[in-house]
Amino acid sequence: PNPFTSKEDKPILNELKSGDKLLKKGKAKEAELHFRKLIKSNPSSPRARFGLAEALNALSQQLKSNSVLQECIKAYGEVVQIPGCPQALKKQSLLTKSDRETFLGQLSSSLKTLAFLAREMPNDVEVLNKLGVGYLMINKNSKAKQIYETVLQIDPDNGFALTHLGFIVKNEGDWVKGADLLGRGVGSLAEGTQSGKFYFHLGDALHRTNRTKEAEEVYARGAEKGLFRSKYQRSLYNVDRLQSRPFWTPKEAGASEYVRKLEQNWKMIRDEALKVMDVEKGLFLEEEEGLKNTGNWRQFTLFAKGDKTAECNRVPKTCALIDKMPNAKGCRRGQIKYSVMMPGTHVWPHTGPTNCRLRMHLGLVIPKTGDGARLRCADEYRTWEEGKVLIFDDSYEHEVWQNAESFRLILIVDVWHPDITDHEKRTLSAI
Ligand code: LMR
Ligand code: MN
Repeated sequence: PNPFTSKEDKPILNELKSGDKLLKKGKAKEAELHFRKLIKSNPSSPRARFGLAEALNALSQQLKSNSVLQECIKAYGEVVQIPGCPQALKKQSLLTKSDRETFLGQLSSSLKTLAFLAREMPNDVEVLNKLGVGYLMINKNSKAKQIYETVLQIDPDNGFALTHLGFIVKNEGDWVKGADLLGRGVGSLAEGTQSGKFYFHLGDALHRTNRTKEAEEVYARGAEKGLFRSKYQRSLYNVDRLQSRPFWTPKEAGASEYVRKLEQNWKMIRDEALKVMDVEKGLFLEEEEGLKNTGNWRQFTLFAKGDKTAECNRVPKTCALIDKMPNAKGCRRGQIKYSVMMPGTHVWPHTGPTNCRLRMHLGLVIPKTGDGARLRCADEYRTWEEGKVLIFDDSYEHEVWQNAESFRLILIVDVWHPDITDHEKRTLSAI
């Protein structure tokens, strides 16, 4: 027996089939009319209404029409309200409905659809897994966590739930549990588990719990699978064609002019920052992405995602200087910020989100006593010099140690990668 059809559908099986055939041939409009006619004569057939919803879905894609898609969403909702609607048809209808709602950016409707379905089918792990994603998409991580715990009670080896729960607990700071869950999830090779995001956080969780060798293996495996550009370059928002290397000269970066201006004006840039540190310390905010292992690391942001911050004018001359650097101030995939790091700080190895920018560091106050401060990018170590710019690609793994006897202050200026086109500068999504 076909799980998608009910008693009501028996007399019209042939008509249903010919509607499906029209759809298969890409004749969405004809299919729509066919199913509408069928509904008129058989209003209590859930399968006929489902056919209409499917036809509208295909039509909305052909016409790229959001209003047809809206109609399609409504039609899927009506399928499940017909008495006697088979469970399989309910599930198929509501999963597609929620998918289409997400496509339209209607995240809370999509979530409601999935929550309704999950109440109908509380033990269906496929439905629950999608519901968890719905919660993650609106940042309700603790709700998602509950859902994935439920899935793992039903199906302890469910790879999808393992990776998603692992991702959540890792980001809550439980690296041991995160590594275990992510490791088992990724190891399952189940659908939805082989994504860069999970390899990224699995490696990080392993590294932070002293399982360094295993972390390296995970990164190497991620690179082999094409999830990372290389074991060191693990950014996830990339433009494929860009050339890359850990450290760059100003000339290679196409930034000689900017470097000259920054180096010529470094004392002014330093003095403006020192004044803010004296009188308006509060503008330097604690680093918040959980990248820091130990110590004290604060940043004062002047530009982010191509926009000037309200606080930029607290350092008016520096801000005006940057204003004349379109590839820096307009870098919607980067930031411009002062960064101050106190002795005793260690920043975990980490990787920026994108290969579309290069990161310039202008040394402003660089301590010369103690063990010094230094940066590793991939397998090269460098340090800063006062009044000098250092350029690296922060999509490569990098790590920082500050073991000097006084603070270190730099200005970070992200610029578009020199291979990025003007069109890409305008159209790439901001990060
Ligand atoms: C980074 O860009 O991750 C760090 O190097 C920043 C800093 O202040 O050293
Ligand atoms: Mn960094």
